Amino acid sequence: MTATIIDGKARAAALRADVAAEVARFRAASGRAPGLAVVLVGEDPASAVYVRSKGRATREAGMAGFEHRLPVDTSQADLLALVARLNVDPAVDGILVQLPLPPQIDANAVILAIDPDKDVDGFHPVSAGRLATGLPGFVPCTPYGCLLLLHDVHPRLAGLEAVVVGRSNIVGKPMAALLTAESCTVTVAHSRTRDLPAHLARADIVVAAVGVAGMIRGEWLKPGACVIDVGINRTDMGLVGDVDFAGAVEVAGAITPVPGGVGPMTIACLLRNTLVSACRREGVEAGL
Ligand code: GUN
Repeated sequence: MTATIIDGKARAAALRADVAAEVARFRAASGRAPGLAVVLVGEDPASAVYVRSKGRATREAGMAGFEHRLPVDTSQADLLALVARLNVDPAVDGILVQLPLPPQIDANAVILAIDPDKDVDGFHPVSAGRLATGLPGFVPCTPYGCLLLLHDVHPRLAGLEAVVVGRSNIVGKPMAALLTAESCTVTVAHSRTRDLPAHLARADIVVAAVGVAGMIRGEWLKPGACVIDVGINRTDMGLVGDVDFAGAVEVAGAITPVPGGVGPMTIACLLRNTLVSACRREGVEAGL
């Protein structure tokens, strides 16, 4: 058996087209474009690439992009002052402060300063609490993208066994909350889990987000499992995920490739969150 390869690039393009159509509706109804402010502190090359592609995607969707590039020695007080201005700027529906931040800035303090109603990254503790308790809020973009890919494979997730490998605030924990809300039976495995293969042997769904190249072996998987690989690991062999793809593709029912799987979904979900924020703030119904 060979797994179906989940085409994240195509799914992300479809979502971006849906968002662009809804943006046009929003603009007609409200007389303005949804606005996303992206803040980059310093010159980290990988972050600069992310911020550029976020800006391009924002404009392509018909939204207004506000880019704020600050010098690497920016003080925490100055960054907090910018966030405070963006919080009250009526043209800004979403605020994203690109991580990592330079060492003189406490990232948690900055995330806490963002208005939760503009927290399109979904990193604020209020966003995490809303997700955990089923209140409307913002879900972090990467796990939300994973959920959309899973739904294409399993329109009904209720009752399925899911193993999330990794417990980060950005992926593992919100992914577990989303799958719990979908009525999956969820196990969160991590670096101290005693027998990962024993857990994976029962898993209909595996979401791997540990950041260790090829750690999850094909022979550990339940035949037919749906495998979502969030890992992006730079190795001598190029970009690889957390799952040993060559082994897993022989056992899984469906699997995301790296690259071209989860990655493209993240920006598409950021655009979706920004549109949803704009609709909530203007009282326009969101079609997504
Ligand atoms: N750095 C890498 N990915 C992300 C992201 O999704 N959001 C933010 N704010 N920073 C990041």
